[in-house]
Formats: sequence, C-alpha cells, structure tokens
Amino acid sequence: MQVSVHIMTASTPITKNYVYLVADEKSKKAVLVDPVWEKSMVVEVMEEKGITLTHILLTHSHPDHVFLADSLARDTGCIVHMSQIEIDYYNFNCHNLVPLNNNEQFFCGNTLITPILTPGHTKGSLCYMIGNNLFTGDTLFIEGCGLCWGKGADPEEMFESLQMLKQIIPGQMKIYPGHRFGVKPGLQFENVLQYNIYLDFKKKEEFIKYRMRKNQHLLFAFK
Ligand SMILES: [Fe+2]
Repeated sequence: MQVSVHIMTASTPITKNYVYLVADEKSKKAVLVDPVWEKSMVVEVMEEKGITLTHILLTHSHPDHVFLADSLARDTGCIVHMSQIEIDYYNFNCHNLVPLNNNEQFFCGNTLITPILTPGHTKGSLCYMIGNNLFTGDTLFIEGCGLCWGKGADPEEMFESLQMLKQIIPGQMKIYPGHRFGVKPGLQFENVLQYNIYLDFKKKEEFIKYRMRKNQHLLFAFK
C-alpha cells in the first residue's frame, strides 16, 4: 500500500490547525483528518489530486477539529468517524456519523486504518494509524501534549495514553498532530521522544503535577 500525506494549515484569527488529506495512491481514495475552517482550500486540493473522499476521521469533538465535518459529509456522502465514547460523552452528531471502538480497523482503498483510543485531552480522543503515519489530534504534539482540563479531560488518562503510545508506536512512524508550536508535522516518533518532555515521565504523579502546573504560558501559540 502506498500512502501520501498532504499537509494543510487552516486558520482563524484565534487558532491555527493542521488538516491532513491522506490518500491511498493506487485507488485515489482518501481520508481527511480533522477538517476545519477553510473549506474551499480543502475542496480545491481534493479536486486537484483527483481523489474520492471516503472518510472524515475526527480525533475528538472540539470545534477546532470538527468544523467542516458535517458540510463535507453532506457534499460528498463520505462517512465521518469518531469514537463511540466521544460521541456519547459530548453528545456529538453530524451527517453520516459512524462510531468507532478502539482498534476497530477499516480500509480506505487498500490502506488499513487503525483507530487507537487515547483519552486524556477529551474522554474519547482517538489517534489514527495509517501506514507509517500517526495522526494524533490534541493528544500528542511534537513539543508536548494536549491540555488536560475541561469537560472529560483527565491528566491521569493522558499519562496512560502516552505510555501506551510509547509501547506500541515504532520509532520510524511519522507523527502528525492537530497543532504545532515549532517543529513541522511529520517528525519520526524516535525524534519526538527527544523533544517532548511529556513522554519522559515515568511516574504518573509527577506527570500530573507537571501537566497541571500553574501559570503556563503560550498554550495557544500555534505556528
Ligand atoms: Fe482539543
């Protein structure tokens, strides 16, 4: 299977997100990860590449990750995936929504996609493994991890999720987060491990204390 990742940035005056178009090269079928804000840009890229959109993969239900899901699903007829837990906990709904459970694999063309449940930033956050690429939403950034406060967030669950990712993600796998603070998306996991202090903690209590520390700056200084 040959997979290509097209990286797009989508902005509003207050936030900047990464949107990924991941194509199964042979079949020209593709998925979109967390499409938001700039619909014409996303549609133009799909038209240029001549691909058919089969799925929208939502990492979690926060507005800056789901904004275009409903309208793109109505326009294209594609399926929208989110975890069952996330849908139930936040009462999320949109056109063609199909819930996923942990590890419930599916195909886009000949490309296998594996959803991995990683709660912590939200109750039912998912990462999606597609070929040698991992799409991590707001669970894992190259420089850190997602916030662990707000409804359904839990630093203890985040610690467990990051530990689990360290166990199962190969060093060569490329990491594509929902936001970036510096380094460009697509860094290999073995390099992320060098950059990211949140992956260093061995003890849960110390991780929680650090993640929940007071006076954190530049939380939304997205590049
Ligand atoms: Fe989020």
